[in-house]
Amino acid sequence: MNPSNPYKVIFDTDPGVDDAMALYYALAHPAIDVVGITTTFGNVTVDQAATNALYLSAIAGRRIPVTKGVATPWVKPGEPPPAFIHGDDGLGNLNSRAPIDHTLDPRASAQFIVDMARAHPGEITLVAVGPLGNLSLALKIEPNLPRLLREVILMAGTVVEPGNVSPVAEANVWNDPHAADHVFGAGWKLTMVGLDVTHRVIVPLAMIKAIADHHRHLATDVLHHAVAFYANFYSGIYPHVAKIHGCFGHDVLAFIYLTNPAFFTCEHGTVRVATEGIANGQTMMKRKDIFHPQSGWEDRPTTQVCMHVDAAACNATFESVLMSDWLHH
Ligand code: BDR
Ligand code: CA
Repeated sequence: MNPSNPYKVIFDTDPGVDDAMALYYALAHPAIDVVGITTTFGNVTVDQAATNALYLSAIAGRRIPVTKGVATPWVKPGEPPPAFIHGDDGLGNLNSRAPIDHTLDPRASAQFIVDMARAHPGEITLVAVGPLGNLSLALKIEPNLPRLLREVILMAGTVVEPGNVSPVAEANVWNDPHAADHVFGAGWKLTMVGLDVTHRVIVPLAMIKAIADHHRHLATDVLHHAVAFYANFYSGIYPHVAKIHGCFGHDVLAFIYLTNPAFFTCEHGTVRVATEGIANGQTMMKRKDIFHPQSGWEDRPTTQVCMHVDAAACNATFESVLMSDWLHH
């Protein structure tokens, strides 16, 4: 993609530390034009997610429309946000916040997605890195949405890699499995960037510190503070992450897939989500086209699923994009 004709992206997010890494990668990348940030519950409440999206974009000097979206899962009861992973505030418990002059777009996230897709048919890429309630609701408002959007990229799910909420479930899907199954069945051009690849990419905290030292800017200081909290969590539970003292890249990988798809090896198949019981939130992929007597898999669209990744190339690209001259004093 030519930077003079960048991807128009709506970023659907629950910020969240890795969401913040992803947002700053997108804002820094010359081939990405973030035209809206739609928030949802997930890593934090939806109110906190919207507050964080406004704050992160404002301190980076951007005035991008930010909307508030769904606050709970469709069917299952909501759970308290995982403050032990992202902090009570979603950004590693910031000591203070600078005043900002940026307020919410009054529309609900789903309505904003529909309005933008109708206004720019075939042009918008939707990168979704939180629970999928906003997309599911947008599909209910506008059933033609899959034809109005250019492409949808999800940080969601897992096929072979163990889950991170249960042995089989990834957090974004587990948070709203009914919405996720709806989204996987909608028929858009869909790519799943899940734990099969995001658990391969460990972002060293030292890299984020070097970026903050380079820019000496509030935005990258906030990112460094947040990633330090997140890296402590991951280093506490995964010895191989502790060795590097870092964190999984998760959400930023969805954007790196957009800008550098050659870093990823993908498979294609039908994805369904278990919505109840011990397997709830499991993403199950039909990887081979063989006959099965059980129904529920026929006439479902195909998802492209990232299975392998060049982790070193991802980290090098993340670092060089964030080191570029994208922040203004
Ligand atoms: C996903 O869940 C959230 O905690 C992260 O922000 C990421 O989107 C990883 O499973
Ligand atoms: Ca997220």
